[in-house]
Amino acid sequence: MRLTDRQRLGEQYADDARLALRIETHRRFSERPDHTPAWVVDLLAPKAEALVLDAGAGNGGYHPTLERRGVRVLAVERVMGMIRSVTGSRATFMAADVQALPLPSDVVDHSMANHMLYHVPDIPRALTELARVTRPGGRVALTTNGNLRESPLQQLHRRAARELGIDADVAIATDRFGDHNLGQVRRVFPSAEKIVQTNALVFPKAAAVLAYYASGPVDSVREPTDETRRELLKRVDELVRQQIAAGGEFRIPKRVVCYLATSP
Ligand SMILES: C[S@@+](CC[C@H](N)C(=O)[O-])C[C@H]1O[C@@H](n2cnc3c(N)ncnc32)[C@H](O)[C@@H]1O
Repeated sequence: MRLTDRQRLGEQYADDARLALRIETHRRFSERPDHTPAWVVDLLAPKAEALVLDAGAGNGGYHPTLERRGVRVLAVERVMGMIRSVTGSRATFMAADVQALPLPSDVVDHSMANHMLYHVPDIPRALTELARVTRPGGRVALTTNGNLRESPLQQLHRRAARELGIDADVAIATDRFGDHNLGQVRRVFPSAEKIVQTNALVFPKAAAVLAYYASGPVDSVREPTDETRRELLKRVDELVRQQIAAGGEFRIPKRVVCYLATSP
């Protein structure tokens, strides 16, 4: 099963429960205060009344930050269940695919695609669409994570899978769109720069690590089933508990990457 498969995305984002859990985990367990929407919106620097496209808007987590600045938000989201989960956003939502935006050219002042391009089958096509609908000179922010293969949680996941004979040799999100995509982005947005923010998740207890793991990373295996989930959750729980017993905490360094450009 591939990372971009509709069925897998449908399960992951049938509603915003898993996404909301991950956002809440970052809010509670980040070593330093972490508010990615505020960081990205500061980089995008929209003026009041500007029209901002939020592609793959999810549950609208960026919208309160944008709306406090007096910005108007046009949100595009492919999954209806996600749109139904939205609260606290005044954005206009469209059910659409970023690879084929049902919008005229040069219609928005700025665009964002945050933590979503790794799900998109044809990333160059999505970038070309974002460039088409953003007026020349408008800013574009494309946010993702740094290399998640280096994450201690991903390493425990692979170790547990190996021990259990589960095939975890599959692509993960940041293999597709992560730290290494500046060249790809510059083919569409020649002015793009990569801006990085570092932080860490620090967990004093295993339960929150396991809830986070269960919200997505546990399914990074070739054939995820209830049984692979149960076995992996049990073994990773043991490994995390061992690390907390030895070191007092479980620490996951993290990097948020934003490719910032002006539309050509
Ligand atoms: C990890 S969530 C990020 C949500 C939001 N941007 C944020 O950062 O909080 C990824 C979102 O992208 C949406 N998505 C995935 N592929 C898409 C596509 N091709 N077109 C539009 N939305 C898509 C998913 O349904 C999901 O809501």
